[in-house]
Amino acid sequence: MVVADRFSELFRQEHRQVRDLLLEFIEAFPQRDGGRTGKLLEQVAQLTGPHFRYEEEALYPALTQIFGAGYIEQLFRAHDGIIRTAFRLSQLAGRADLDDDEVDEAVKLTRSILPHVSDCDGLSIMVERLPEQAVQRVLDVRERSRDAGLDLLTWASEIRGRATPSSRR
Ligand SMILES: [Fe+2]
Repeated sequence: MVVADRFSELFRQEHRQVRDLLLEFIEAFPQRDGGRTGKLLEQVAQLTGPHFRYEEEALYPALTQIFGAGYIEQLFRAHDGIIRTAFRLSQLAGRADLDDDEVDEAVKLTRSILPHVSDCDGLSIMVERLPEQAVQRVLDVRERSRDAGLDLLTWASEIRGRATPSSRR
């Protein structure tokens, strides 16, 4: 299989998983099922930590030659926003005592992440135009990020090195 096709397939699978977890989140918050939202948050954070990491450490830099630096900075900023949202969601997940405003907020915040999932998946079409070596490097960094296994909030607070004002619960 061509390496870009392999990449697209893995990338699509990861986005599918994130999409499904987010949609489940949207269902679970109004039920105030703290056990479920807590577990979902853990799963989303575990999946998106390595995903964001290899995007930022390898995929985005590789795509600079296609998109130019300006759009790549926008992609980083989109991640900044999602990370802030994730920190807020981590304060709302796992609780059975959310009031109506908090439930609305949680659902709205979760929905605000969804467009990133579909937008991000579209990057595959540009990855097809990268040199094979560059795509392989992205896949290598993906492996390393998955082996390191840091969840999104841990990676963002300890490794990422971009200021995203936030605090852990
Ligand atoms: Fe992504």
